[in-house]
Amino acid sequence: MSSLLIEGGNRIDGEFAVQGAKNAVLPILAATVLNGGKNVVYNCPDLSDVSSTVEVLENLGCSVSRHGNILNVDSSGMNSYTIPETLMRKMRSSIIFLGAIIARYKRACVSMPGGCEIGLRPIDLHLKALKSLGIEISEAHGYINCVADKITGADIHLDFPSVGATENIMLAACMADGITTIENAAREPEIVDLQNFLNRMGAKISGGGGNVIRIEGVKKLYGVEHTIMPDRIVSGTYLVCAAATRGHLVLTNTDYTHMGAILNLLSDMGCRIYREKNRIAIACNQRTHAVPTIKTMPYPGFPTDIQSPFMSLAAISDGTSIFVENIFENRYQHVDELTRMGADIRIDGRCAVVIGTKSLTGANVVAKDLRGGAALVAAALAAEGNTTIENVHFIDRGYENIEKYLALCGANITRKE
Ligand code: UD1
Repeated sequence: MSSLLIEGGNRIDGEFAVQGAKNAVLPILAATVLNGGKNVVYNCPDLSDVSSTVEVLENLGCSVSRHGNILNVDSSGMNSYTIPETLMRKMRSSIIFLGAIIARYKRACVSMPGGCEIGLRPIDLHLKALKSLGIEISEAHGYINCVADKITGADIHLDFPSVGATENIMLAACMADGITTIENAAREPEIVDLQNFLNRMGAKISGGGGNVIRIEGVKKLYGVEHTIMPDRIVSGTYLVCAAATRGHLVLTNTDYTHMGAILNLLSDMGCRIYREKNRIAIACNQRTHAVPTIKTMPYPGFPTDIQSPFMSLAAISDGTSIFVENIFENRYQHVDELTRMGADIRIDGRCAVVIGTKSLTGANVVAKDLRGGAALVAAALAAEGNTTIENVHFIDRGYENIEKYLALCGANITRKE
């Protein structure tokens, strides 16, 4: 088990290129099983979630090799349609393989993903949608079994714009007979990246990024090359670290057009933001100020994944902020740890009231989930004294070498194995 040791009080000041997006690369790697060909994926971040996805691919019989941030996936040798429980437990978002495997094999068997650290994460919307495409689904002994003689296009309405369900339908329907439409589809930029990847393979998908996605089934898909979009949540986290330390940061290989809600909030809190093509700069010379209400919403609303880093910033801002977490019911696990560092936060159900204090103090804290762990890093950089963050494996799921990038920008941060 690793921990991060951070001596707070140093300004973040520097420039670096942001990694590729975790939430784009995972469904795109799952999509490589569709074509039974050779795929090259560029800008692939070095994350434990990506390693877990590679393990799933290898378990299915695909061959995968990594050269720096390029992943080569050859799915021609795929010889299994099952994802065992051990792999499913490692990463619940492996459920995204369901649509891809069933499209390739007309059969799929994956272990139930179960609950997780940020909430229940049901998959009812995924299963209901797949059934509409003519796929028979049964659940037994903790496994979901899917069989289809033929996958047939259908008009699907999602009761909630679930990211994973939208992606699973796109994967399952791209080689279906006929046309599928998804109404109330998730609009996240990662959906557009998946659409682009699939279309490059030969799929006929349009509407990604909007409410309605149209998928015209094709007979065959081909191997492709693709570059993963930049990670908007990682970009946002580093901008928060700069704001929390009253620093100055330039991010390259990023895309401000995906980050409207995040950049607006930083501006409202008193930071100066400069946007250029593929580049965002932030300067923050004074203490940030609270904003009355921050509500997490599906894209293009304020993302749930950046709620916890912003709570660290609100904890040292001038005034009181109210957070409302509308997406996941258990996403305040960082609060106890921030409180150990001197934050004044009260939770009532999905609401958290954050009364800004002048400064936090270093403490021994424990990351309980990925983004909550990143929030502790932001808090520790700004705190007086030393902080030790345990359970860094959560942070490694989504942030490539977090200590390297922050140290490059003047942070005093080291990893202890
Ligand atoms: C994805 C992201 C995750 C992000 C989340 C919301 C990936 C790998 N992960 O997760 O980082 O926090 O979007 O932006 O891309 N729901 C149901 N039934 C379902 C599916 C979802 O009730 O069948 C509910 C969930 O419990 C949750 C909400 O819908 O309350 C959003 O979930 P969803 O958009 O599906 O998130 P994920 O795809 O799991």
